[in-house]
Amino acid sequence: MTKTVVITGANRGIGFELVKCYLANGDWQIIAACRTPQKATALNDLADATDGDIEVVQLDVSSAQSVEAFSKAIGDRPIDILVNNAGVIGGEHQSLGDIDYDEWMETLSINTLGPIRVTEALIENIRKSKNGKIVAISSQLGAMQYQTQGRFAYNSSKAALNRTMTLLANQLRAENIAVAMYHPGWVQTDMGGQAADITPPQSASGLYQCFEKLSLADSGKFFKWNGEPHAW
Ligand SMILES: NC(=O)c1ccc[n+]([C@@H]2O[C@H](COP(=O)([O-])OP(=O)(O)OC[C@H]3O[C@@H](n4cnc5c(N)ncnc54)[C@H](OP(=O)(O)O)[C@@H]3O)[C@@H](O)[C@H]2O)c1
Repeated sequence: MTKTVVITGANRGIGFELVKCYLANGDWQIIAACRTPQKATALNDLADATDGDIEVVQLDVSSAQSVEAFSKAIGDRPIDILVNNAGVIGGEHQSLGDIDYDEWMETLSINTLGPIRVTEALIENIRKSKNGKIVAISSQLGAMQYQTQGRFAYNSSKAALNRTMTLLANQLRAENIAVAMYHPGWVQTDMGGQAADITPPQSASGLYQCFEKLSLADSGKFFKWNGEPHAW
């Protein structure tokens, strides 16, 4: 039976590669959410080349209005997995003495509140799946054990995302909905830069396999893209 996946930030980087993985790996209906569909050329081309397997739908995860319109566009069909991938690095002014607080708020709105906004809007759809899953692309930079300096906005947004997702996991366990967070690796995308360790296809195929394996027993946990547990 065809299953349905929603992927946010699906027009480029890791999100776009995840779309390709779902397309290649099974019988999936793919709802590819992106901020500006009219500019999502590669994604639109891929969608046009399939037989309706990919639906491109507008979604700005930081806008309540956009999230509501997205939810209306999806309707009441079951969603088997929500992949909260959309994110931003958060601007240039993130270190002591040079903090842009408006940028920090915007980063939190996208990276931390965004996944929860989208989850809240789609929870009834996820409840309709027999085996619903909610995953978030987090970062090692949100882990307390990862020693680093600077990037207050980005790192704090991912730390808060992780904590929020663990609360969500606890709340949804009794409903058989699994929730997990993933560090995607340091990936060669616009965000990661070309010097990064791994390619988007490597990251996305590892993540896809992790999502497929995710069960209630692992709900609330933090993993690396290759399935290894991640330290908090
Ligand atoms: N690359 C890495 O090394 C790395 C490492 C750790 C974690 N991550 C995480 O992995 C995820 C994907 O990153 P990436 O490397 O693929 O980054 P990317 O190439 O910069 O792509 C980011 C994606 O997020 C979308 N996005 C940003 N703000 C949005 C909003 N308000 N609403 C909807 N979509 C929005 C972007 O859409 P537009 O095209 O419209 O801007 C784009 O599709 C992020 O959550 C990131 O924090 C990445």
